[in-house]
Amino acid sequence: MYGLLEYGNMLRDRVRTQAYRAAIDRHLRPDSVVLDLGAGTGAFALYAAVKGARKVYAVETSPLLDYGRREAERLGLGDRIEFFNGPAQDFEPELRADMLISDLRGALPFLGDAHAVLADAKQRLLTSDALLMPHQDRVFAAPVDDPAWYAREIEQPWLQNDLELPMPLLREAEGSLPRRPPPRGLTPCFPGQCFATLDYAAEVISLPTATLQWTAEQAQTIHCYLLWFDATIVPGIEMSAAPGAKAPLVYGRLVLPLLKPVQLAAGDRLSLRISVWPAAGDFAYTWTTTVLDAAGSQHQQLRQHSAHEAFLAARTSGVA
Ligand SMILES: C[S@@+](CC[C@H](N)C(=O)[O-])C[C@H]1O[C@@H](n2cnc3c(N)ncnc32)[C@H](O)[C@@H]1O
Repeated sequence: MYGLLEYGNMLRDRVRTQAYRAAIDRHLRPDSVVLDLGAGTGAFALYAAVKGARKVYAVETSPLLDYGRREAERLGLGDRIEFFNGPAQDFEPELRADMLISDLRGALPFLGDAHAVLADAKQRLLTSDALLMPHQDRVFAAPVDDPAWYAREIEQPWLQNDLELPMPLLREAEGSLPRRPPPRGLTPCFPGQCFATLDYAAEVISLPTATLQWTAEQAQTIHCYLLWFDATIVPGIEMSAAPGAKAPLVYGRLVLPLLKPVQLAAGDRLSLRISVWPAAGDFAYTWTTTVLDAAGSQHQQLRQHSAHEAFLAARTSGVA
């Protein structure tokens, strides 16, 4: 659940706001019917109405949508915007929309039930040829060599903590949870590679399983993978959360830690097999790291997943 400050931060992200604005400006027509799905405080819905859309639906679970309603009244837009405060799955509008404005992503475009919400909207709330914003997201991963981060974030809390009580089982479970990078960021030591392309217009938004490979030119130790996404809001209007981007996007990035640091010799190949799958109303990640030497012999393999908490919850509730 986002607060006003977070909704403010979404608008403060000028790259994101300008990209959505440019997409709306390019495609909005006086006869457009717009669905702002997950409208937050309704900023994009208000903008579409100000720009002359025939009808705008602003749909949002957060009660903070009420601020949008009040802004609409203040602007005299009340007759053209309809606000629905509740889950989109319960919304039954009079018209189908031919333009979708939506941003249901977190650090990556795998958050909660976003894909199901979008699928339901496409089936019930949108015309079959509706213009979708976003149009496509591409998700990237790159290995990172950062021993100081690894010691502080993964090792110390469980193995060298102030209780002087090592907890290796917890280190293994918590050490596989995806997390945000530190404020100073993490710098990949290899170029990012794309492992998922989410085409929102496709009938089914398929979840990725992919294998990425990097070859070491020199000896290197890998501690984690950094993940981020690039987006096409509509064809021709793009934004990127890649590390090193001039203006970092509000989404940030995600880190998948390694169970142990992996040593690469010059010429070794680092292979990452990564999958994203639905778990306990959200998404989980499986990632397997394999080191192969120049002759193709396997040196090391680490298999990890992020669903320790979901599995335990299922066991203790008797589901598994
Ligand atoms: C990342 S925010 C985007 C807010 C605003 N549209 C913007 O771009 O600034 C995503 C919003 O989607 C809302 N949301 C998520 N699932 C929803 C659902 N099933 N029905 C309605 N709103 C939903 C969340 O509460 C959140 O406010």
